[in-house]
Amino acid sequence: MTDDLRLSIAADLERARARTVLLTDAVDDDDLTRQHSPLMSPLVWDLAHVGNQEELWLVRDVGGRDPLRQDIDELYDAFKHARRDRPGLPLLDPAEARAYTAQVRDKVFDVLDRARFGPESRLLDGGFAFGMIVQHEQQHDETMLATHQLRAGAPVLTAPPPPRARQAVSGEAFIEAGRFTMGTDTEPWALDNERPAHPVDVPAFWIDTALVTNGDYLAFMDSGGYDDPRWWSERGWAHRQSSGLEAPLHWIRDAGGWLHRRFGRVTPVVLDEPVVHVCYFEAEAYAAWAGKRLPTEAEWEKAARWDPSAGRSRRYPWGDDPPEARHANLGQRHLGPAPAGAYPDGASPQGVHQLIGDVWEWTSSGFHGYPGFGAFPYREYSEVFFGGDYRVLRGGSFGTDTAACRGTFRNWDHPIRRQIFSGFRCARDA
Ligand SMILES: [Fe+2]
Repeated sequence: MTDDLRLSIAADLERARARTVLLTDAVDDDDLTRQHSPLMSPLVWDLAHVGNQEELWLVRDVGGRDPLRQDIDELYDAFKHARRDRPGLPLLDPAEARAYTAQVRDKVFDVLDRARFGPESRLLDGGFAFGMIVQHEQQHDETMLATHQLRAGAPVLTAPPPPRARQAVSGEAFIEAGRFTMGTDTEPWALDNERPAHPVDVPAFWIDTALVTNGDYLAFMDSGGYDDPRWWSERGWAHRQSSGLEAPLHWIRDAGGWLHRRFGRVTPVVLDEPVVHVCYFEAEAYAAWAGKRLPTEAEWEKAARWDPSAGRSRRYPWGDDPPEARHANLGQRHLGPAPAGAYPDGASPQGVHQLIGDVWEWTSSGFHGYPGFGAFPYREYSEVFFGGDYRVLRGGSFGTDTAACRGTFRNWDHPIRRQIFSGFRCARDA
């Protein structure tokens, strides 16, 4: 068991690193060190930060080894420097950053060989510390993919298109009133904010079986949705006015309709693809226009995990098996979301599609700890963000790896953000 776990951790570490290398080798040194948006770090910061976190947790803490580069800890501490300030720091250059992360990884494999994964150490039980670092690197790989999307210039990333629709999906699913188990005590790599498992009573509601598509969203735009304060919350309208929002980020108006720019390629907007790069306020306005609302986080998780016939919560909408390519659009296999109906094998028992993968889904909930929450392994992972000006997003995107995505996984961001791969679906009271 322990050796199987060791092998699967090694494979997860290698998959994350292969993605990091692909994203950072795709551009030249100038591109790596430049800031493509004040919202993002230079890619070379992400690269060395990934190595530094791995050194802190796995080499020094778990392995008890001497530091490799204690002198750079401060530079790569995300709490010490805002993203906009990172280009001005005396960062490792690309060659140094590559050499450093590779050196750390060598030591980590040595630590992994000797690690024991029993319950005597909470940090190592089930491989948790390694899982945390795998997820951390994968989260930065998604962030780096978002940086690529913001980068100007010729395309450097390629991937096959996502699968086509295999089934027509539209309408709503009815989720009966009742208690379900939210969160988890048993996912070995679940982060502190996903714990503990706890019962939540959810009144009956309807939820869209498909994500809101570009075609749906265009109907909102064409009916003057961006210019009608009736559909917007007060804060949302103020933001729409001050930021001049008139379409999702990366959309370009053209004589023949709307185009969008995706990883350096400009193509017509595809009507049956999920809309992406919208902020919470845009999602909220669309939902109001459609006579609906956004789901709460508990509603989303109940729709994604609750199996009414078995009377229990599953790990994923399709069951407890880890995601395979047929279930969901994850892992940067494709560079965009798949059309509605492309993943019937990933649907929930009540017929809700594409809850996992494709786009992160805005929920109406703020980010709070569950009842009984305990910070682990450090307060800065989640707790310091509780109660801030955030909305929870669920389900992962095409840019999210399988290791960093499950039915209980919680993401959070400011309601104005749209550089992330964010979309939504609607719900309504029964
Ligand atoms: Fe980080």
